[in-house]
Amino acid sequence: MDNDVLRQALLFSGLDDEAAASLGAQMTETQLSRGEVLFHEGDSGDRLYIVTDGKIKLGRTSADGRENLLAILGPGQMFGELSLFDPGPRSTTATAVTDCSMQSLGHDELIVWLNDHPNVARALLHQLAARLRRTNDVVADLVFSDVPGRVAKALLDLSSRFGRKADDGIHVHHDLTQEELAQLVGASRETVNKALADFAMRGWLRLEPRSVVILDLERLQRRSR
Ligand code: CMP
Repeated sequence: MDNDVLRQALLFSGLDDEAAASLGAQMTETQLSRGEVLFHEGDSGDRLYIVTDGKIKLGRTSADGRENLLAILGPGQMFGELSLFDPGPRSTTATAVTDCSMQSLGHDELIVWLNDHPNVARALLHQLAARLRRTNDVVADLVFSDVPGRVAKALLDLSSRFGRKADDGIHVHHDLTQEELAQLVGASRETVNKALADFAMRGWLRLEPRSVVILDLERLQRRSR
């Protein structure tokens, strides 16, 4: 398999090269342009996806049209397995934040892999457990943390996946609009902008279009607790 990102994805962990190549050969490539929707919350789903390039946002819309983002996924991360393990409609809408490429596997084929390869089953359980942990943290933060604390935490999370160290700080090219950042934090755009402006004024970060440069990681970490 010539796709390094795919080989490093959790689903492939624990597979030898031959098994990984055979799993890779069963996958289909999908490309999306920025803003394109892969599937909607409520659709019926029959495939699991691994992002190989670009970013995908997973979101839900309330009855009155407000949007909440549950996750921003980047290369190596997977989604679309809940509708297999808990048969039902798609639990989120998946939209391309940037142009992006994915590899996907049908749920029927995945079941065969789960039956024959305990490591594949373990990888999926690992992902579900990690996601539950993260979701618990998010719920606790919504109850216990203020908006600036949640903004700091969201930036640190994005930085851990999309950050690039440079001489002047950590460049986090998140590709999100201010509106999307607010939807991720679960607060209004105005409140999130105010928190970002305050962090910038204190010299903790520099704001750039669709990215931030973290200048004082320690202070931001302290604010996120
Ligand atoms: P599925 O319901 O098939 O389609 C939408 C996908 O979004 C879902 O599978 C999960 O893979 C993913 N998803 C749902 N909730 C979350 C969450 N809280 N964090 C990360 N991913 C999620």
